[in-house]
Amino acid sequence: MYNKLIVLSERMRHEGALLGGQLSAESLQQALQEERAESISQDGEIIAFGALWPRERSIELGSMWVATEHRGRGFGSTIFGRLIARAPKNTRLFLISHNALIVHLALKNSMQEANKENWANAVPWSASCGPCDRLTETEKSNCPFMCAEKECRLFFRV
Ligand SMILES: CC(C)(COP(=O)(O)OP(=O)(O)OC[C@H]1O[C@@H](n2cnc3c(N)ncnc32)[C@H](O)[C@@H]1OP(=O)(O)O)[C@@H](O)C(=O)NCCC(=O)NCCS
Repeated sequence: MYNKLIVLSERMRHEGALLGGQLSAESLQQALQEERAESISQDGEIIAFGALWPRERSIELGSMWVATEHRGRGFGSTIFGRLIARAPKNTRLFLISHNALIVHLALKNSMQEANKENWANAVPWSASCGPCDRLTETEKSNCPFMCAEKECRLFFRV
């Protein structure tokens, strides 16, 4: 299994849209062992993955990935639905994405989109933007990516 996670980790790291820091094979394995992740395998390979990442007073639904050759066949939707069902109801669930498919799945699953005014109230700032790969800590207060159409859009479960 661990060898499959090494391959998965390498493939996921090639996706610019995924946060790199949490994609090590160890980290993916831990998420699966702690039942915070969902995966689909075919012919001995993991072809779809997604995880719930604990953040400050909240949980991020992220690392959604389907192998290029299997996209557009509902695997992403299946993983997303399983993660939504698995996420504890008493903790704020959120995701950050501008991917049209993920935005569609968030809205389909009754998540609400944050705006610049309620972003930090919807989810603690340190939870939504703490793990950012793109800006340094000092730049974050003037983040140009927040709520931008093709950048970071925050969705949360009410
Ligand atoms: C995003 C990703 C996980 C989606 O996986 P997928 O298996 O191709 O997705 P699905 O086939 O399940 O489609 C997801 C939903 O989007 C819908 N959809 C398809 N094309 C769409 C479009 N252009 N606009 C809006 N929704 C669209 C599908 O109908 C489906 O919704 P449904 O369940 O209501 O029918 C996959 O494209 C991927 O791995 N991308 C690279 C990594 C990435 O960017 N991850 C997201 C980071 S935030």
